[in-house]
Amino acid sequence: MKAPHVVPYQGSKRKIAEEILKNIPYKIQGRLFEPFSGSAAITLSAAVKNLANEYVVGDKYEPLINLWRKIIDFPDDVAREYKYLWNSQLGDPKQFFAECRSQFNIDNDPVKFLYLVARCVKNAIRFNSQGEFNQSPDNRRLGTNPDRMRKEIFAASDLLCGKVDFRVGDFIDILNDATSNDVVYMDPPWQGTSNKKDPRYAYLLDIELLTRGLEDLNSRNIPYLLSFDGVCGGRSYGNGLPEYLDLMKIDIHAGRSSQATLLGRDDMTIESLYLSPALIELSGYGNIHEYHKLYA
Ligand SMILES: C[S@@+](CC[C@H](N)C(=O)[O-])C[C@H]1O[C@@H](n2cnc3c(N)ncnc32)[C@H](O)[C@@H]1O
Repeated sequence: MKAPHVVPYQGSKRKIAEEILKNIPYKIQGRLFEPFSGSAAITLSAAVKNLANEYVVGDKYEPLINLWRKIIDFPDDVAREYKYLWNSQLGDPKQFFAECRSQFNIDNDPVKFLYLVARCVKNAIRFNSQGEFNQSPDNRRLGTNPDRMRKEIFAASDLLCGKVDFRVGDFIDILNDATSNDVVYMDPPWQGTSNKKDPRYAYLLDIELLTRGLEDLNSRNIPYLLSFDGVCGGRSYGNGLPEYLDLMKIDIHAGRSSQATLLGRDDMTIESLYLSPALIELSGYGNIHEYHKLYA
């Protein structure tokens, strides 16, 4: 079974979810945490593989988590409301998008958020300095067809209903009760995309705070995987992480970037995945220091 594709989110790990999850070669005894969930690609793929019995899906952006709650608990409502919005745009899509965006900036309605993500340029959400959604519509398409959206919504609900604890907040708080029986997958907003005027996500992460969070997880012996920096066509995004965290870096070949495809170039995107000392131990890689000696 393929993982459902509900929230089309730029930066989604959907296409490389399998590659990432290969690094958890055992059934998780506790919960799988995804505290920077976005489109929850890793949770959905893990649930298809039955990698854990319970999941924690969190994000700092509240409308996104409210959307996920509603998708899983009230799939019919989401499918109907999305269809209503989608059909309402047909007279004047541009004008309707502008109205829906203004209303969303007042009421933060989760299904309006789904419509806006599905319809906006490159499915890339953008916010102004007041925290208002300000991305433009993609005028060449209308967004995921409502019949297809209904199928994907119900598939996600069937997969995760009764198994997920949704949390809104900072990743450190979301991971407050994580234990060494759990596994955490983290995909914080990249440093490389974080310093721009018009940030890609609602919230951006400070590298110091991320590092402190990782230190804390290490001290609690929590197995985790972290997607962090990336290299595309020889250009590097983001700095590596401090050595004292004892993380193992793995290259994931993510295929051609959409930008490279547009420009007709062959740049391959390589994404880095870092495994924590506790996960390395459990995965049978053995001691991280031995590993480094072996492959130095
Ligand atoms: C790179 S995206 C995650 C994409 C996700 N892996 C996927 O497959 O769709 C990063 C997410 O982290 C959220 N975020 C930013 N800062 C955060 C924080 N301090 N704690 C929790 N979530 C945060 C953003 O709202 C955004 O949804």
